[in-house]
Amino acid sequence: MIGTIVWLATVVAINASAYQPLVEVREPLSSTAPPKCKCYPGDSCWPSTAGWAALNRTVGGRLIRATPPGAVCYDSFEGVPTKNAIKCAEVALQWTNASWTADQATIPMIPLWSNNTCEPNTATGQPGPPGGCSDACSIGFLSQYAILAKSADDVAAGVNFARTKKLRLIIRNTGHCFMGRSTGYGALVINTHRLSSIKFENKCSLCDDHSGGVVKVGAGVMLKDVYAQAWPKNLDVLGGECPTVGIAGGFVQGGGQGPLSGHYGVGSDHAISFDVVLASGKVVTADAKNNADLFWALKGGGMGTFGVVISVTLKTYPTIPVTGMGLTITDTGDRFWEGVRIWHTMAPTYTAAGMYVWYAMQEGSLIAQPFVAPNMTIQQFNTVVAPLLAKLRAANVTFMTTEVRTFSKFGDLYQNMWFTAFHSSGLGAYFGGRMISQQDVKERGNDIVAAFRKMSDKYPGQVLFGGHLVNPGNRIKDPEQKLSAVHPVWRDTADIQIFLYLPPPCMSAQQRAEAESRVTTELGGILRAVTPKSAVYSNEGDINEPNWQDAFWGPVYPKVLKIKKRYDPNDVFWSKSSTGSEGWALQDNLKLCKVT
Ligand SMILES: Cc1cc2nc3c(=O)[nH]c(=O)nc-3n(C[C@H](O)[C@H](O)[C@H](O)COP(=O)(O)OP(=O)(O)OC[C@H]3O[C@@H](n4cnc5c(N)ncnc54)[C@H](O)[C@@H]3O)c2cc1C
Ligand SMILES: *[C@@H]1O[C@H](CO)[C@@H](O)[C@H](O)[C@H]1NC(C)=O
Ligand SMILES: *[C@@H]1O[C@H](CO)[C@@H](O)[C@H](O)[C@H]1NC(C)=O
Ligand SMILES: *[C@@H]1O[C@H](CO)[C@@H](O)[C@H](O)[C@H]1NC(C)=O
Ligand SMILES: *[C@@H]1O[C@H](CO)[C@@H](O)[C@H](O)[C@H]1NC(C)=O
Ligand SMILES: *[C@@H]1O[C@H](CO)[C@@H](O)[C@H](O)[C@H]1NC(C)=O
Repeated sequence: MIGTIVWLATVVAINASAYQPLVEVREPLSSTAPPKCKCYPGDSCWPSTAGWAALNRTVGGRLIRATPPGAVCYDSFEGVPTKNAIKCAEVALQWTNASWTADQATIPMIPLWSNNTCEPNTATGQPGPPGGCSDACSIGFLSQYAILAKSADDVAAGVNFARTKKLRLIIRNTGHCFMGRSTGYGALVINTHRLSSIKFENKCSLCDDHSGGVVKVGAGVMLKDVYAQAWPKNLDVLGGECPTVGIAGGFVQGGGQGPLSGHYGVGSDHAISFDVVLASGKVVTADAKNNADLFWALKGGGMGTFGVVISVTLKTYPTIPVTGMGLTITDTGDRFWEGVRIWHTMAPTYTAAGMYVWYAMQEGSLIAQPFVAPNMTIQQFNTVVAPLLAKLRAANVTFMTTEVRTFSKFGDLYQNMWFTAFHSSGLGAYFGGRMISQQDVKERGNDIVAAFRKMSDKYPGQVLFGGHLVNPGNRIKDPEQKLSAVHPVWRDTADIQIFLYLPPPCMSAQQRAEAESRVTTELGGILRAVTPKSAVYSNEGDINEPNWQDAFWGPVYPKVLKIKKRYDPNDVFWSKSSTGSEGWALQDNLKLCKVT
């Protein structure tokens, strides 16, 4: 009854002849009151066609209506026929190609974050959906509009439009975030992947503590692009291991770790300047002298939340020699896990030597390849690793090692020894993870490996692990978080670990929620219980991590939150489980609304 009265009053107040959807009844009547949700298609506040056209002119025609690329495998999209067997075969072929995915306007690397919408059948390459899934292609959780930005002006136009029209805004670079942060229903996407400039300089004019040079990289540059130019110049840039991750985007804003982190520290420690578009649309520089608080926050303090980074300038270093080796353990049952226990509990000895160990693991197979030892000779390497191999032998664990090799620079090791699992796009996995501290490994190392086994046994064949045994605090301590706004555990870590849970295909909304809760509560719960002194890497964890503020940023959080509020008081930027996101929540993965 009350509902009816309000409904009538609303209709009369607005326009007796205009149809308003029933949901509008709950909107505040006063036009000055802030809306409860961002504006979405179908809302009266959604921009008109003329409004979009005006934005398009401002950005030089670089606004696109983004149709899901897989639509060509389906009969139609939004009522328009789309099926094209030849184009579908191409999409099916490229679906797992991470470079191709990075080039797309809106789709995520992990299709779960688009609601697996309009997927091609990668098994057969035939036009049509994967067997058993929906045969309709709809927008899912994707955005319809994207600006393929070429300049800071394009980005500023997008920010201004989203702010004034109260749209959800997504900053999308490569779409690599496996936590789903670069995808969003009904958002205006600012796609930064085409900001691709790379400029090296021999000197660092802004530095007082760095004798090397710098490289200024555009927001869209991927690690492989900067590596491809740095290595021939005999320069190292501290990036990560995945070739197609963007260095200026999520990587630096989440901290960033890589194969040389035991020697050089956290990725963001090396940033000396950012060009940024603020929520106001203003383009500013953030460095030690200008906007110093923003500069600090952008170094690990949260992705997609302080502004749109246009470029970052990073320190470069003359290359150093590296030694590497691969280790695989293939055994079964208790002996497999005993091998893992021996190898993992010794992580502090490798990390104390500045080493990094990349690994992928599932019941019956550990691939720890490579061990990366910056500036160590083969002899020094063997001294560190000999006790591990002796213990594995004594326990009769079946294992193999590759030849130990020294390369004159990291780039050569990377090209020769890297095991490239997980570098493809299209993976059907939910992720969780934990940055396991030195202290936890030293005090509870056996319990931690027992927990891995318990997780693996819980959903046999559906739980995989990956990780990086490395301590970015090995040489670069930063006890007062002056260099980077990262959780202090970053400087006392033994394993930056990721686990994957492979859910069944073609899930309903209900099954999706159950799968996410398995990751957060069951699997995540097992690991949390044995790692009380650990944290979570904000880029490599569970998007639904409970108390994420503390897990991702710990004691640093109050300070980065204050900076977020100073630079973006009206939440133009919002990124799930990133700094300052607590005032809003996604409803069923769709609309972003104020938390009341
Ligand atoms: C296969 C794989 C391997 C990985 N390996 C490593 C590794 O070795 N080391 C490591 O540290 N991490 C690694 N990561 C994690 C990676 O650093 C994060 O996923 C990172 O967020 C990706 O950033 P992006 O800009 O490429 O991706 P996107 O998904 O496009 O963006 C990620 C987040 O950053 C925001 N963002 C992007 N661009 C900008 C911008 N210009 N301004 C403001 N916000 C922006 C987005 O809004 C989103 O919140 C890996 C990820 C994958 C998938
Ligand atoms: C924007 O303009 C370009 C060039 O005129 C056009 O190709 C494109 O379709 C327009 N985008 C939208 C969303 O209308
Ligand atoms: C992957 O995609 C990139 C970018 O679109 C393309 O250049 C490359 O050829 C593709 N790789 C393969 C194997 O098709
Ligand atoms: C997401 O996918 C499920 C399963 O196909 C479907 O039931 C649901 O309607 C989809 N949601 C959206 C918003 O597309
Ligand atoms: C590499 O090791 C050598 C010998 O131990 C040392 O003299 C040199 O300073 C190290 N180089 C770097 C960059 O740490
Ligand atoms: C390993 O195998 C040897 C020979 O078969 C045996 O004597 C020894 O007890 C085994 N050790 C362990 C720890 O199982």
